[in-house]
Amino acid sequence: MQAKNQKIVVLGTGGTIAGESSSASEGLNYTAAQRGIEVLVQAVAEIGQGLPTALTAFQFESEQVAQIDSKDMNFATWRHLAQRCHAWLNQDDVAALVITHGTDTLEETAYFLSKVLSADKPIVLTCAMRPANFKDADGPQNLRDALHVAAVAKGAGVWMVAAGEIHHSQHVQKVHPTRVNAFDSGEAGVAGTVQSDVVVWRNAFKPVPKQVVLSPSDLPEASTWPWIEVLMNHVQANAKVVDLLVQAGVNGLVVAGTGNGSISTAFKEGLMRAQSAGVDVRVASRCNQGPVIATETHAFRVLEGLSPVKTRVALLLDLLSRLIKH
Ligand code: SIN
Repeated sequence: MQAKNQKIVVLGTGGTIAGESSSASEGLNYTAAQRGIEVLVQAVAEIGQGLPTALTAFQFESEQVAQIDSKDMNFATWRHLAQRCHAWLNQDDVAALVITHGTDTLEETAYFLSKVLSADKPIVLTCAMRPANFKDADGPQNLRDALHVAAVAKGAGVWMVAAGEIHHSQHVQKVHPTRVNAFDSGEAGVAGTVQSDVVVWRNAFKPVPKQVVLSPSDLPEASTWPWIEVLMNHVQANAKVVDLLVQAGVNGLVVAGTGNGSISTAFKEGLMRAQSAGVDVRVASRCNQGPVIATETHAFRVLEGLSPVKTRVALLLDLLSRLIKH
């Protein structure tokens, strides 16, 4: 028998995939982050007739990095997670990482990790919309598919796998509060699919070139990370909120503008005041598909066509880079 000298490491952070409800028929009212990562990995082995062939070449190891509902994800956990990923990825016998995560902020963590992890190995996040003890729990299959994708993905990249779809960290977004297939990659589309233990990469999918901006070892204590808020343009958006945030010491603001990043006149004036006071302002769109196309009418920078929450992560890393250089 061939020795399994490569491993896939599974890092647990909590979420519904590790959640439990009062009964197997209760899928919406539950507590996230109850089961340990070892129990979740064990459940994968219990599905179907053995593991997909691609997985039989690997050993699995797991580590509980956090145990939280991802609505409570925070900078300290991000820093710790990035450092644990970095440590595992630096080991020669580690081929890939899989991270279990709550669905609610998964896209922010995935994008954050894509900007701080430089190793040439795949990182695959997965999750579930149904708690682990639900009769039709989606977690075990999602984790199995994520392990499979981690085993066959070529080279670097941060991906997410759920409901039989492979998404890229740059594009993936949670678009539905309850449905099992809750994620979408908008116009970029899925990167591939995993159906009945067959991984198919979509030829038309163009992976975004990797651009790492910081290393986990550069990340300072979380308490020193900049304060950045996301605001939304809407009918009668009130600039008073901007002035109050500036007075309170906010470091950055992201505006989820209307349409192609438009901002009402009064709200924009408030944001211009904030910018003059030294607050970094970026603009994205509150539309849930398609990038903002920057034009000369935009008073604030647009970042890579990112969603508002990912623009916030990009601005956070930008401000952290500047902080570190000084
Ligand atoms: C969470 O994000 O941790 C809870 C919700 C979920 O995982 O679906």
